[in-house]
Amino acid sequence: MKKNILKIAAVCAMSALMISALAGCGATKDKKDDTTASADKLVMATNAEFPPYEYHENDKIVGIDAEVAQAIADKLGMELEIDDMAFDSIIPAVQSGKASIGVAGMTVTEDRLVNVNFSDTYAHGKQVIIVKDGSPIASPDDLKGKKVGVQTSTTGDIYITDDYGDESVERYQKGADAIQALLQDKIDAVVIDSEPAKVFVSENEGLKTVETPYVEEDYAIALAKDNTELLDKINSVLAELKQDGTIDKIISKYITSK
Ligand code: ARG
Repeated sequence: MKKNILKIAAVCAMSALMISALAGCGATKDKKDDTTASADKLVMATNAEFPPYEYHENDKIVGIDAEVAQAIADKLGMELEIDDMAFDSIIPAVQSGKASIGVAGMTVTEDRLVNVNFSDTYAHGKQVIIVKDGSPIASPDDLKGKKVGVQTSTTGDIYITDDYGDESVERYQKGADAIQALLQDKIDAVVIDSEPAKVFVSENEGLKTVETPYVEEDYAIALAKDNTELLDKINSVLAELKQDGTIDKIISKYITSK
């Protein structure tokens, strides 16, 4: 990336020598190099493989989290920038200050609280089990000794590893990849959050969600430990957005059966 910028700069300098007024060169800066959080920019780290919270629609990232973050940015008078990355890169991005917030349907856990702070909760989730129609797996206990697909570093990964051991877990970069593996009988089940599960089950023939949920959870926004100023601001803005119905409105736009 840096290399490209240098190249562009060099071309600009050369062109400027040849043609004195070359408009636009100064503005040719790759947006990606500008990602370090600044005072007037709210940089959101996410993993847009998680409908309906964040996913790609055409070349935009949309979903509940994108809209909640936009509403927060609007209230704070900040510009929102969304950076898509692997799920397990989100917390490091927030810790290093590369991103100011991590918004990714992220569950508040004790272990994550060692590395980041979380805002107040803005949504609830559940880990559920997806199986193929006709599967003998009918409850979380039936996962013992089975191969369970998860998205790497998600709570599904953490819980299955804790409860059934590393040998039970098959890790995938995306939830959708775990679903493909299930369809191809490479694994026996997928553990993932309930709303993405609904989307994946509705988009793929022959799958169902086991009725008994596995774990209930709360979603919140992750912030760097030392960024308590922004944490306080976000919590007060979140309270306003809950109070005036904005959060409910955003959630019910994406989740109809609620
Ligand atoms: N709620 C789960 C967790 O926090 C899964 C979140 C996955 N989010 C995503 N954008 N891929 O671990």
